[in-house]
Amino acid sequence: LAATALGASAQNYPTRTITMIVPFAAGGPTDTVARLVAQSMGKTLKQQIIVENVGGAGGTIGAARAAKAAPDGYTIFLHHIGHSTAPALYRKLSYKAMDSFEPIGLVTDVPMTLIAKQNFPAKDFRELLAYVKANKAKVTYANAGLGSASHLCGMLLQTAIGVQLTTVPYKGTGPAMNDMLGGKVDLMCDQTTNTTSQIKSGKVKVYGVTTKARLASMPNVPTLSEAGLPGFEVAVWHGLYAPKGTPKPAVDSLSNALRAALKDPTVKQRFADLGTEPVADERARPEALRAHLKAEIGRWGPIITKAGQYAD
Ligand code: MLT
Repeated sequence: LAATALGASAQNYPTRTITMIVPFAAGGPTDTVARLVAQSMGKTLKQQIIVENVGGAGGTIGAARAAKAAPDGYTIFLHHIGHSTAPALYRKLSYKAMDSFEPIGLVTDVPMTLIAKQNFPAKDFRELLAYVKANKAKVTYANAGLGSASHLCGMLLQTAIGVQLTTVPYKGTGPAMNDMLGGKVDLMCDQTTNTTSQIKSGKVKVYGVTTKARLASMPNVPTLSEAGLPGFEVAVWHGLYAPKGTPKPAVDSLSNALRAALKDPTVKQRFADLGTEPVADERARPEALRAHLKAEIGRWGPIITKAGQYAD
């Protein structure tokens, strides 16, 4: 069965181009991670891996598309922590976050940064807090829909400071960043893979990073814990999946290619420049991703339910 599903024979998989579905708009953080990994995996597999951006509904549109793709090894799917928050956020998903997919491996954990448009009137987190408490819903907050990392970070932030901002949803934080650079939206919590260059060039203001320790790539930026939100930590983990039923020889080839990509000096350097790093080799395997996704679905469910966030 495995051999027929893989075309001629399992051992010469892949014999044609592979599609990697990314559930957010091009130019955003997920797309950045995906293209770096796809380019390197393609070298190992000696087949092109093309990225297809399928945005909308916080990543669940792309997830649904991937779940329904032919399980033949020629469609894979890269998603982040949002794959574990969607089950609690959406009451009617057309797929099961765990059972509709074959896990291939974990990829990278990306820190987040709380940023504002360049002329936002707060120079540090203390001033930001005062301004937001005084102006409440007059302050706009960009995210990429329920299920995005920017939504999750924003939900935790608004719960922590006790203020409800006005949400402006986008198909990804790539387009959201364009609006922020144009001064059209006030705040956003987004991944360093998308914000590092804008922060370093001074095009946006930064108030803190969502990691336990400061980042080597931005040592002068305080953690939000230091800045005033003790224990505020969100790391955006990323996983690579195939549709359920994809033959094991293909899943194993894909996991081996992923592990090679995470050792690729070009990928490691680019990740480092963008404030992140590849996961340890043993985590870039199916069982590690399966266990992590299960734990994260269990972890975020109660937090999201308590925050009263869901979509019908
Ligand atoms: C993106 O790639 O656009 C982001 O992952 C969106 C988000 O999750 O905030």
